[in-house]
Amino acid sequence: MSYKLAIATIKGGVGKTTIVHNLAGAFAEWGRKVLVVDLDQQGNLSSAFLKNIYNVPTTLYHILIDPDRPTSTAIQPTDFPNIDILPANLDLSRIEFQLAGDPEAQYYLADKLREVNHYDLILLDPPPHPGLMTLSALVAADGVIIPVECQEWAARGTTYVLEMIRRVRRRANPQLRLLGYVINKYDGRRKLEQTYKEVLLERYGADVFQTIIRNSVKYPESASMRRPLTSYHPTSVQADAFRQLAREISQRAFHRRQRAARSGRD
Ligand SMILES: Nc1ncnc2c1ncn2[C@@H]1O[C@H](COP(=O)(O)OP(=O)(O)OP(=O)(O)O)[C@@H](O)[C@H]1O
Ligand SMILES: [Mg+2]
Repeated sequence: MSYKLAIATIKGGVGKTTIVHNLAGAFAEWGRKVLVVDLDQQGNLSSAFLKNIYNVPTTLYHILIDPDRPTSTAIQPTDFPNIDILPANLDLSRIEFQLAGDPEAQYYLADKLREVNHYDLILLDPPPHPGLMTLSALVAADGVIIPVECQEWAARGTTYVLEMIRRVRRRANPQLRLLGYVINKYDGRRKLEQTYKEVLLERYGADVFQTIIRNSVKYPESASMRRPLTSYHPTSVQADAFRQLAREISQRAFHRRQRAARSGRD
């Protein structure tokens, strides 16, 4: 069965897409079969893997809007072994309107992903606002990671997404686990940034992943070259950071899952 991991927060530009792109590279390098799902009409994740996202005939939109259309019809291979993509583009902007008033809408993604259970890992990249796509990602996911920057308003988007997680766990997806917070774009030269880092560590403690993703031009560069860093610059410290983060995620997600399965058998 696939492990579904959403990288979510209600704040733009903190690195959700960058994290999905590069985690896919790190997990695929270990031989894990990965599906990345673009839930954002901006299509940034799709552009990080595919050349022209507007020529894609079938996208996430088409399978969500049509219950009879198999999920596999929208999945494409990428240039990288073990990574497939379920892309999105501006078509997705219509979905909120078209499914408005449908009380089941938040479950459609989860239903559709059940059809493609042969992946080891499904990475979900929602948009930065609390609409249907973020909600669908949280309803479908087993785990969620919240990216944070060490800045003044870091806690804002976090508070909002935590509230959404709480709501989703009450009924729609009680299994959803918060795997932790990832500090992204850390520079560390500014005193204020260090102070915010300490505040985050105080507030969230061991929930903060030990791996810190530092600010580096290599991340935007690798996205524009349409290659995860593990492929674009495999020997870089930035690629290593993602291998390390992937290891930490594995420990938190898969080991916890095995424990749960064991205790279920006892
Ligand atoms: N560690 C980093 N160092 C430098 N630049 C980064 C880093 N992480 C992300 N970026 C850059 O910051 C910008 C925003 O990142 P990204 O698109 O991943 O964020 P996002 O949370 O997905 O944004 P959105 O909310 O619009 O979906 C991009 O240009 C990306 O290349
Ligand atoms: Mg994004």
